[in-house]
Amino acid sequence: MKKSDIGLVGLAVMGENLVMNMESKGFTVTVYNRTAQKVTNFINGRAAGKNIRGAYSFQELADSLEKPRKIMMMVKAGSAVDQLIDQLLPYLEEGDILIDGGNSHFPDTIRRTQYVESKGLLYVGTGVSGGEEGALNGPSMMPGGSPAAWPYVKPIFQAICAKVEDGAACCDWVGENGAGHFVKMVHNGIEYGDMQLICEAYQLMRDLLKMSDDEMHEAFKKWNETELDSYLIEITRDILAYKDEDGSPLVEKILDTAGQKGTGKWTGIAALDEGVPLTLIGEAVFSRCLSAMKDERVKAAEVFGRKIPEFTGDKEAFVEAIRQALFASKIISYAQGYILMRTAAKTYGWNLNYGGIALMWRGGCIIRSAFLSKIKDAYDKNPELSNLLLDPYFKETIEKLLPAWRTVAATAMQYGVPAPAMSAALSYFDGYTTACLPANLLQAQRDYFGAHTYERVDQPRGKFFHTNWTGHGGDTAASTYNA
Ligand code: 2AM
Repeated sequence: MKKSDIGLVGLAVMGENLVMNMESKGFTVTVYNRTAQKVTNFINGRAAGKNIRGAYSFQELADSLEKPRKIMMMVKAGSAVDQLIDQLLPYLEEGDILIDGGNSHFPDTIRRTQYVESKGLLYVGTGVSGGEEGALNGPSMMPGGSPAAWPYVKPIFQAICAKVEDGAACCDWVGENGAGHFVKMVHNGIEYGDMQLICEAYQLMRDLLKMSDDEMHEAFKKWNETELDSYLIEITRDILAYKDEDGSPLVEKILDTAGQKGTGKWTGIAALDEGVPLTLIGEAVFSRCLSAMKDERVKAAEVFGRKIPEFTGDKEAFVEAIRQALFASKIISYAQGYILMRTAAKTYGWNLNYGGIALMWRGGCIIRSAFLSKIKDAYDKNPELSNLLLDPYFKETIEKLLPAWRTVAATAMQYGVPAPAMSAALSYFDGYTTACLPANLLQAQRDYFGAHTYERVDQPRGKFFHTNWTGHGGDTAASTYNA
């Protein structure tokens, strides 16, 4: 057998499926796993008769690879990646490429890129989305790291990744060091937001409109033929139709406590660090936290004994209004996510390709949707677009959706059905499109109690004033201390 095109370490399901995918596209792969038995099982099982070779030592792995060597690590995120890098380095040489395809936190990838580059090698941290199925048949891939590695990795990644209808690959170079893992993190945050919005729509239909699961299934089926056409709407449609053994909808038997693995939280923390109002994803993360407090909610429900009043409006029209509110809120969520990426790009010195990111998310991953092609168009037309809402298509769309969106948010509040993401999105929109916010009063308060100073509307920006509000506070501004 000729030397392998790439090595892969970590034969869990994602790793195995990526290897099968690579092999099916004509690449020869060497596999290694800490627990050697998994290599043997794989080679004698799924990999039998294929261009896949097993290695039982790092030396064997390194010797089997074409130079510059490319080794993809598919191990548990965290210290396992650091350990593995240190174990592999002695067997590698200048120009070889280490790739981390796990769900690493981007600051780790920034650090590891610098470390591996300091040893004369190249590093790639790539987001891989699409789960087990995606890994096998075409994931969305978001690679970042050492730019010099991209020409070597590109033919493999673009062969194995998902493709959209016109054949374009859902994988392109994202940017330097941790950019790929950052974009993957934002992808996951957006996934939290999309899921929360769908859940709010579901709760409004179920608890306010008293729709059956079959009726909701029909609604989602129709929605999937509109601008909302997406993987998450599609699976929701199918989930609502799925019956348990007794013939009743399975989803209604599932306990309403959401889990999370932390990428939504990371996205929220990154937004707070960058000072970006990522309110919809924030609400989505907090909604999972609130859902997890099941026992307390059950008690509080008893204490307050709230009942949702009977809905007296036009049900069918309200279902369409919910669809429009969902769509409008989704636009806000992506607008906020893109602002976070733009802001982080400035902080970390990344040169991100925003249209390319929309294309990478267009297929293969969990948030794949028709709508992303509109985002790609917007950024292709204007790469400097500061907010998606200012793009003519999105401006016009939001304006059309606004009446229904307001109706749904207001009705949810009036009737007492929680819709935190939809209403946070609307509040953001109203705040973003308000020339004068009440922060003048806030600045006055800060200056009153802490002499923090303020700027004036009738003076040039950058000139700061302090007022002695009480007549006995003194005239000294708090420029030299933080109270
Ligand atoms: P294992 O089969 O030996 O447990 C997902 O857990 C994958 O990451 C598995 O292939 C697992 O190997 C691998 N893994 C976890 N921690 C590791 C470590 N510290 N070094 C190498 N591989 C590790």
